[in-house]
Amino acid sequence: MALPQVLQNLSLPVIASPMFIASGPALVKAQCKAGIVGSFPALNARPAEMLDTWLTEIQADLAAYKAEHPGAKVGPIAVNQIVHQSNDRLAHDVEVCVKHQVPIIISSLRAPPKEMLDAVHSYGGIVLHDVISIRHAQKALEAGVDGLILVAAGAGGHAGTLSPFALVGEVRKFFKGPVALSGSIATGDAILSAQAMGADFAYIGSRWLATKESNVEDGYRQAIVESSAADVVYTNLFTGVHGNYLKKSIVAAGLDPDNLPAADKSKMNFGSGGSSKAKAWRDIWGAGQGVGLMDDVPSVAEMVERLKAEYAAARKRLAL
Ligand SMILES: Cc1cc2nc3c(=O)[nH]c(=O)nc-3n(C[C@H](O)[C@H](O)[C@H](O)COP(=O)(O)O)c2cc1C
Repeated sequence: MALPQVLQNLSLPVIASPMFIASGPALVKAQCKAGIVGSFPALNARPAEMLDTWLTEIQADLAAYKAEHPGAKVGPIAVNQIVHQSNDRLAHDVEVCVKHQVPIIISSLRAPPKEMLDAVHSYGGIVLHDVISIRHAQKALEAGVDGLILVAAGAGGHAGTLSPFALVGEVRKFFKGPVALSGSIATGDAILSAQAMGADFAYIGSRWLATKESNVEDGYRQAIVESSAADVVYTNLFTGVHGNYLKKSIVAAGLDPDNLPAADKSKMNFGSGGSSKAKAWRDIWGAGQGVGLMDDVPSVAEMVERLKAEYAAARKRLAL
């Protein structure tokens, strides 16, 4: 099945995933200029009116870059929408994305409602939905999404528990459309393996935290550089949904990462107010198990060049 036009001309088969707080205009612009899909959660633009400002600024900057570099591959932008009753900005944020004709919408948590899908499809946009299970994948496809993001074990932020082999393999039995795979992908070799497994794209998050353009404090970058997979804890304590976090930040918050209580799911809140999520992501640092592969803090452009070289070397090694 042919990929949607908007995903056909990337410099690498990579979608940079949206990350709460960390993905701001500087990171997104650098990702797109490096030829991959750049993304951010709509909720990062606060207050809500800021979303229009961000999109205007990012689109103008990328248009100017394209005009100055006619031959360059410039990736499209994607905006993440959290589909949950506590997100009181959803209708507003979708409307702003429609106004800017954002080519890719990434929906997470619940399957997107029909009105949202119709609104995005009305201008030729596509919706990729993020899932951790086969059941959720089927529900999203029934709702009418255009593609799936499969979040396997080891991913940063809210993550699943399934092996990527099981997840991609089962989904490919019933879905031939666009599939992105995530969970600890941090090298060119891993991008190629995602494709070998049957995915079209690698969906990469944590690796961008340890870049110069991420909107995080230096201590967070440093903690990623110093951590390995054993320093990542999987818990639902901080948001009500299971996710992966750096042990170091949990200790700094005065908690014992090896003895964390379970969370109360009814406290989930993804609204525009001062939610517990904001605190969670600001003080308790999300990151996937791939942190052991991140030993420095390059710029996004340098990182994408490195991924390209590793990807080409892996292809050569396997004589592809
Ligand atoms: C700090 C952090 C914040 C995140 N915030 C969001 C978010 O707001 N919305 C979302 O859909 N995914 C979010 N994610 C999940 C990523 O989009 C993606 O699934 C994950 O980072 C991929 O795994 P990796 O980090 O191992 O590459 C977040 C991940 C991290 C590490």
